[in-house]
Amino acid sequence: MKSKILKQLKSNEDYLSGEKISEEFGVSRTAIWKNINSLREDGYKIESISNKGYKLISSPDILTLEEIEKYLNTKTIGRKIFYYNSIDSTNNKAKELAFEVEEGTILIAEEQLQGRGRLGRNWASPNGKGIYMSIILKPEVDPMKVAKITLVGAAAVNRALAELGIKSEIKWPNDIIIQGKKVCGILTEMNCELNMINYVIMGIGINVNSNEEDIPEDLKDTATSLKLATSKLINRKILLSSILNHFEQLYTSFKEIGDISETIEICKSNSAILGKEIQVINRNQIRIGKAIDINKDGELVVAFDIGVETIYSGEVSIRGKDKYI
Ligand code: BTN
Repeated sequence: MKSKILKQLKSNEDYLSGEKISEEFGVSRTAIWKNINSLREDGYKIESISNKGYKLISSPDILTLEEIEKYLNTKTIGRKIFYYNSIDSTNNKAKELAFEVEEGTILIAEEQLQGRGRLGRNWASPNGKGIYMSIILKPEVDPMKVAKITLVGAAAVNRALAELGIKSEIKWPNDIIIQGKKVCGILTEMNCELNMINYVIMGIGINVNSNEEDIPEDLKDTATSLKLATSKLINRKILLSSILNHFEQLYTSFKEIGDISETIEICKSNSAILGKEIQVINRNQIRIGKAIDINKDGELVVAFDIGVETIYSGEVSIRGKDKYI
């Protein structure tokens, strides 16, 4: 009901009479008034004038389906959204829901109290300043191929940023870098049988409008936000929708015909590491080599002293030889 009233308000430039809405939905005017108040609590500014009705003045900066719908051109990705003001971690909650929901369902939170990063790290998720989302996927592909989905996610974020005029680089396989600092990370988790995937959860965290004080002290040298990097406030609704639009396009070709050539092309031409000396960190072991390619399967090709090796994303971390990247 609330969402239907919101749709009506959004599609009407003028005042909408309470009587008209109550007739249309077959509910009392008190019920309408309660829903209007609840929308106000959500941050919608709604003017009401007796004898005229209600008029939507402005919408809050929140990432609900009602707010991003007009920018979305996907068929399935993001068409069902579970939205939370605050949650421990969208990836955790996605695991609880994954078996029951359709592919493409996403979970979004304004804040995470225990946001998780790769390798057991935390992901700082200050309220309303970022995009913290998990996409639930159910591709019918070999579980060994799932690492490619992380690259699809990274490519989609890179494209969406480019659309906003923001140049970013991809640090294979799952980080987005601007001016040498990380703005986005991807945590892909999977539940599978021997040769069948039950579900994949792709968690994407982006520091969008975070200020200096929102970046944890120990990450100040290596992390930034889109706002800090561009000195502009970024429209989260447009960015989120654009990521979902690009993700669906790239993911569909992976899922339906196993083709990730466009993704690889994006990852290569916007790579933060190709052609550079890097550290390949695997638990406590650090090896120095030169990143020379991302092959057609999405693996990183590194030239070490002892020869060339392909690296499957797994549990490795990549760093620049003498600096973060
Ligand atoms: C990394 O770079 O280490 C990955 C960070 C992934 C963070 C996102 S935010 C949404 C989703 N929920 C989580 O708890 N983590 C991911």
